[in-house]
Amino acid sequence: VTLSAPAMRSLIEKKRAGLEHSREEIEALVGAFTRGEIDDAPVAAWLMAVCVTGMTLAETAHLTAAMAASGDTLTWGDASVVDKHSTGGVGDAVTLVAVPLAAEAGAKVAKLSGRALGHTGGTLDKLECIPGLRVDLGLEEFKSQVLRVGCAVAAATASLAPADKKFYALRDRTATIASVPLIAASILSKKIAGGAPAIVLDVKHGTGAFMKTPAEAEELGRVMRDVGERLGKRVRVVLTDMNEPLADSVGDALELDEALAALSGGGSPRLRSVAHAIAAAMLECAGLKSGIPHLGPEAFAKFVEMAAAQGGRLDEFDRAFKPARFIAAPSSGYVQRIDPRTLGELVAASKAGLPIEQARRTGLRLRKRTGDKVERGEPVIDVFETGAPILDLERLAASVTIGADPPASRQLVRALA
Ligand code: URA
Repeated sequence: VTLSAPAMRSLIEKKRAGLEHSREEIEALVGAFTRGEIDDAPVAAWLMAVCVTGMTLAETAHLTAAMAASGDTLTWGDASVVDKHSTGGVGDAVTLVAVPLAAEAGAKVAKLSGRALGHTGGTLDKLECIPGLRVDLGLEEFKSQVLRVGCAVAAATASLAPADKKFYALRDRTATIASVPLIAASILSKKIAGGAPAIVLDVKHGTGAFMKTPAEAEELGRVMRDVGERLGKRVRVVLTDMNEPLADSVGDALELDEALAALSGGGSPRLRSVAHAIAAAMLECAGLKSGIPHLGPEAFAKFVEMAAAQGGRLDEFDRAFKPARFIAAPSSGYVQRIDPRTLGELVAASKAGLPIEQARRTGLRLRKRTGDKVERGEPVIDVFETGAPILDLERLAASVTIGADPPASRQLVRALA
């Protein structure tokens, strides 16, 4: 089906008026845009109309399905295959811990991941700190590793939901990213193309996330769950606080190191709690009644097995980190705020232009968390730089607020009811 210019214009008019598209209309639009048969201008106008007037669940499901069908798709034929996705944050190393943990407890985890986007980190970038590790697995290789080892973390290749890549690039240029149906369809189209029958979605909310408030995160979570279920998937949604970095570390190698510590049952309790909640949701969603999985030597061994299957030589990953500098508490009191967005931006900016090995080992580690008591002059954040000092220490210091009273505590993670 091609879409003529007048037909495209009526679709824009219809959406501008807030009317509902049919499945055929959405399929025609997605198909024509993906094949390059309509140019960016009318599609940009349509995207803006969607941003302003929204889409129904039925329309969002049609858009998701059409984008998922625009490229390669995987099929599994195994009900215990599960995928997970996080809407992204700072210090979010959860995948590295939750994936082997769920696999060790019996799930088959087919995790398709992305790279760093803006101030948020990318799972693939963290994994690639392991010498030799490959994330560009072919679809067949990915599939066979998931079934043999129990888990794989691979790059979502260009052939998976190519329509989403085109739409996303145009949305980025036209200020049309911020739309619940468009975000839901974008995220889910890649998960639907990946084929897992069970999907766990970790929706972050807070200053370091796309969704600023718990209510916005709940809305996105509900839409994604409803759309996924309409498309025949089992979906669980977990909501996670992103008003401060999730793990103590921000930076690829530091986050990998902290994830390895968490896998053995150590490291930051926050990372362990969220990884635990996500792994439990994956098992439940995969239909496994394995109970609550445990972090410890078996989970660590599963990670080692997965990394080795992807060519990684974990024993060559240097886990000795020495901070170059630190920022100190300017006064005594309680840590009230550590702005995750600033931390993410500072690390991303410091890495830019560095040789890859140095970029990977650049980062921050929190010595204090929100709610901790500090004395004036005590180190709050350690700074890791392998070459000349590049991180903007003044901005870093300004990202921490210390006050006389402890802040109200926030719930770290909960399931969407
Ligand atoms: N992540 C995605 O993959 N797509 C969006 O639209 C937003 C976040």
